[in-house]
Amino acid sequence: MSDVRPVSLSQLLLRKVLAVRDAFGRDISYLRLSVTRRCGFSCIYCADRDCPGSLAEELSLPEILKIAEVLSGMGITKVRLTGGEPLMRRDITEICRGIRDLPGVRTLALTTNGFRLAETARELREAGVSRINISIDTRNPAVFAQITGVPGAEAALSGIEAALSAGFAKVKINAVLLKGLNDDAASIRDLAELSLRYPLDVRFIELMPAGGTACCKGEYFTSGAAVLRALPELREDPEEPVSGVARLYRLPGALGRIGIIAPVTRRFCGGCNRIRVTADGMLRPCLLSDREYRLRGLSAAEIRETVTKALAMKPGEHGISQDGDDDHIRIRMQRIGG
Ligand code: 5AD
Ligand code: SF4
Repeated sequence: MSDVRPVSLSQLLLRKVLAVRDAFGRDISYLRLSVTRRCGFSCIYCADRDCPGSLAEELSLPEILKIAEVLSGMGITKVRLTGGEPLMRRDITEICRGIRDLPGVRTLALTTNGFRLAETARELREAGVSRINISIDTRNPAVFAQITGVPGAEAALSGIEAALSAGFAKVKINAVLLKGLNDDAASIRDLAELSLRYPLDVRFIELMPAGGTACCKGEYFTSGAAVLRALPELREDPEEPVSGVARLYRLPGALGRIGIIAPVTRRFCGGCNRIRVTADGMLRPCLLSDREYRLRGLSAAEIRETVTKALAMKPGEHGISQDGDDDHIRIRMQRIGG
């Protein structure tokens, strides 16, 4: 059963007319909306030591819904709520319900560190979230604590089970590959084997350089190819070898799939369909560019005008490379939500 809400022919035609396209002809239909910069974890590759985020800066529920409504009227059909940690917001279910009810939105997704998921999964499902991504870099409690600063491996794992029993259409595990911490064959296999037991996708992500963090890409970077080396029995998924930004594989007999997301060694900018809004209401046409545009306080017409202007400036591709000099890219991951 598809988790994507069906649309009528007239809605489809209207959307074709309204759809926003960037200067490179890419149709923009996916909004990643950060609802808070706060997070109980402090992952070494994300947490911003200079600026952990505060309640005061965050868009309010009506501000979020206004921005989402205007963007959905411009062709956004998929919204993913990110953070920081989106479940830190007390009004997260109201945010979900409000976005689910926008006529243009067909898919509502959320990315979480899984820590509070066991208690909130069912409520989120009922509020219209159909896809959930849980960030877990390792199941080893000591390494988990070293990466996140929190001894929460058990909680995150019960979050996975709660998500599965709450009935989300798609549950994905996101693991950032970190040299010397979780990129050895045994660690990769340990996470990948969750796809044998559960109908979920385990996706390994290459580290991107982020400012204000404890993690220098040069020191910790591991190519996505480490996953293929660790799991020689992996086979390309015959039904869907590529989905969005991930290349998909399967372990023999598995219920779920293995994904490799390689923004550094296999860049996928050419097919980018996304824009981002930060928790304080700044529109970012590209994750890895510092250009951003204020949406907060604008009228609907002004938001539309700003989005059109911003998309004309969306770069064709990012400048990060495997071993090149990408120190100029100092994006604040905790603010933008990955
Ligand atoms: N590089 C790659 N992925 C990152 N994420 C956060 N910071 C980084 C980074 N520096 C990912 C997390 C999470 C999502 C929100 O973004 O794994 O799944
Ligand atoms: Fe928090 Fe997620 Fe960033 Fe970790 S990656 S610090 S869990 S927002």
